[in-house]
Amino acid sequence: MSARIIDGVALGKTIRQEVAAEVAALKGRGVVPGLAVVLVGENPASKAYVGSKEKACLEAGMHSVKVQRPETLPEADLLAIVDQLNHDPAIHGILVQLPLPKHINTEKVLLRINPAKDVDGFHPVNVGKLVIGDPTALRPCTPWGVIQMLLRNGIETRGANAVIIGRSTIVGKPMANLLIQTGPGGDATVTVCHSKTRDLPAVVRGADIVIAAIGKAEFVTADMVRPGATVIDVGINRVDDPSVPKGYRLVGDVAYGPVAEKAAAITPVPGGVGPMTIAMLMANTLQAMKQVV
Ligand code: GUN
Repeated sequence: MSARIIDGVALGKTIRQEVAAEVAALKGRGVVPGLAVVLVGENPASKAYVGSKEKACLEAGMHSVKVQRPETLPEADLLAIVDQLNHDPAIHGILVQLPLPKHINTEKVLLRINPAKDVDGFHPVNVGKLVIGDPTALRPCTPWGVIQMLLRNGIETRGANAVIIGRSTIVGKPMANLLIQTGPGGDATVTVCHSKTRDLPAVVRGADIVIAAIGKAEFVTADMVRPGATVIDVGINRVDDPSVPKGYRLVGDVAYGPVAEKAAAITPVPGGVGPMTIAMLMANTLQAMKQVV
């Protein structure tokens, strides 16, 4: 069998177009959703992410603000920036790009963001709302994007055995909480595997849906995957490759070639989950705005 490829580029574009259409309609009523992205320091990957977020915002017809500060920014100054954005009526979503420099307490900064503007869905108020199934929760963009991929590709989660590999706060934990919610895109039986899991390959072999989010290149091999399973690869890892000009290539947490031979559906890397994250950030910003105006 050769797996159907779940195309995150195409679906991400569709979702961004849906958001843009709603934004255009809202403009007629004089309201424009606004997203502020705060970048501290010069991390090249973070700079690239922030650039893509800004571009997506403008393409969706949203108001976009980028706040860029040097690595040496004192924590108190970052908190003051968050306070100012919390009070800015033109801003409906605030994203502080992670990781932050070591001298800044990330937890403290994320707690300072008004939960109503927390488009990352990292604030404990949104985490709590997600767990209890409150539809006004702002949901973390990456796992929320995975749910959209499953829903819009007709992959049944109801009653399915979903195995998540990785228990991070950004992906694994919210992924599990989304999949156990009642209703479409939920109703799954969820197992979360991590570094202490006993016989992880055997657990993964029981999955109808495998979600790999551990940050280890090609960790999920074909022998771990049940024939006909759906495999979602959240990983993005650099591996050395002297045969290409850049000297490296990007691979996921899944050994794509062999797993694609066995699975029924699979997401590629790049071009899978990655583009969905930005699309869901746009969707979250629109949701945040609609919940306050
Ligand atoms: N850095 C890498 N991914 C993310 C994300 O989803 N949100 C934020 N704020 N920073 C990130």
